[in-house]
Amino acid sequence: MGEFRFPDSPVFYRVLNRSLPEVVRGEGVYLYDTAEKKYLDACGGALVVNIGHGRREVAAAMAEQAAQVAYAHGSMFTTRALEEASAALVEILPANLDKVYWVHGGTEATETAIKLAHQYHRARGKESKYRLIGLTPSYHGNTLGALAASGREPLRRPYQSLLSDFPHIPAPYCYRCPWKARPPECGLRCANELEGVLEREGPESFSAFIAEPIAGSSAGAAVPPAGYFPRIREIGDRNDILFIADEVLTGLGRTGKYFAVEHFAVAPDILLMGKGLGGGFVPAGAVAVNRSVIQCIRDQFGNFIHGYTFSHHPVVAAACRETLSILKREGLVEKAAERGVKIFGADQVLGKDTPLAAALHSEVEMQRLRDSERDRMLSEHAQEPPKPKSYKDRLRRKD
Ligand SMILES: Cc1ncc(COP(=O)(O)O)c(C=O)c1O
Repeated sequence: MGEFRFPDSPVFYRVLNRSLPEVVRGEGVYLYDTAEKKYLDACGGALVVNIGHGRREVAAAMAEQAAQVAYAHGSMFTTRALEEASAALVEILPANLDKVYWVHGGTEATETAIKLAHQYHRARGKESKYRLIGLTPSYHGNTLGALAASGREPLRRPYQSLLSDFPHIPAPYCYRCPWKARPPECGLRCANELEGVLEREGPESFSAFIAEPIAGSSAGAAVPPAGYFPRIREIGDRNDILFIADEVLTGLGRTGKYFAVEHFAVAPDILLMGKGLGGGFVPAGAVAVNRSVIQCIRDQFGNFIHGYTFSHHPVVAAACRETLSILKREGLVEKAAERGVKIFGADQVLGKDTPLAAALHSEVEMQRLRDSERDRMLSEHAQEPPKPKSYKDRLRRKD
């Protein structure tokens, strides 16, 4: 075989313009290729590997489950692994979320939630409530429903004609505030936009509001201002729309708590998980919800009309159960919280003579620069958002 690149290899790669090294081994934070070259997998791939590479306990749990029974259809059977993994999740989830639907990644979790929210409203006789309101920027996945909910223009643009009409309001991203305002004086204008959309378009077509509690891949860990989610919750409740917290990236300990919503003292109606749920050993995702939502659907329709061939998979469940057990017994979530304080409180922790320390140091410096630049911008600009350019202006600019 030639190089591992398009078109030499039969693989339809995710990248078509470069060769890829062949990875053969993972240990802790490192990956190794065939030439024993070592790569620091600093963020665990796409924020997935939260317990480290090469964890034999997870491999053993998967092997044991696979040897006993690898597959049984989720509508016909349950397994001990599935029951225990679900119980382990319910133990750490916000108290109101007590049932877990198992899928295979973040995108499927979003799709499941879109349908769940709509079917819940239908069960209550509110057929017209099917649309989501999302944020810009944001990301919830790459299938058509999840992409329609996402405010990620470069990913949406090629498929615009296929996407449902879900409106987006500005994300609580103070650094790029469209009104150049700052909390608390801004009065949480970005949260109030939710009310604006509901008033303009009528709450009767909307089923849910979806947001990442801390914006991940589209805004680089933008933390919303205090009071944002309680305000969102209150507007949503008044207009009978559900709040879906997408914790695919932020969940399972990434922010120093099991779930990022815990930082904001707000309880979502539906919570989405993925990425670190299976530690990278299996493609796993899950949707958590309160039993009353399911009861409502069951009373009206008998069942939640949804499902995949591989939902509630026994080997996936075994890997997730072991991953959750490692997070707990090694105190990794608490450790993440401690490290966060050290890194952002005192950037000297690792000494400045290693490349990692230098990178961390410059990241902290960057954050300081961003903060001071933001303060400067905020003080220089008026409180009003820039007026959109007229069509004529835009034409003139092209000349
Ligand atoms: C917040 C969030 N939701 C959903 C997804 C989609 O997850 P997946 O790529 O596992 O389908 C991602 C992926 O980056 C994400 O960051």
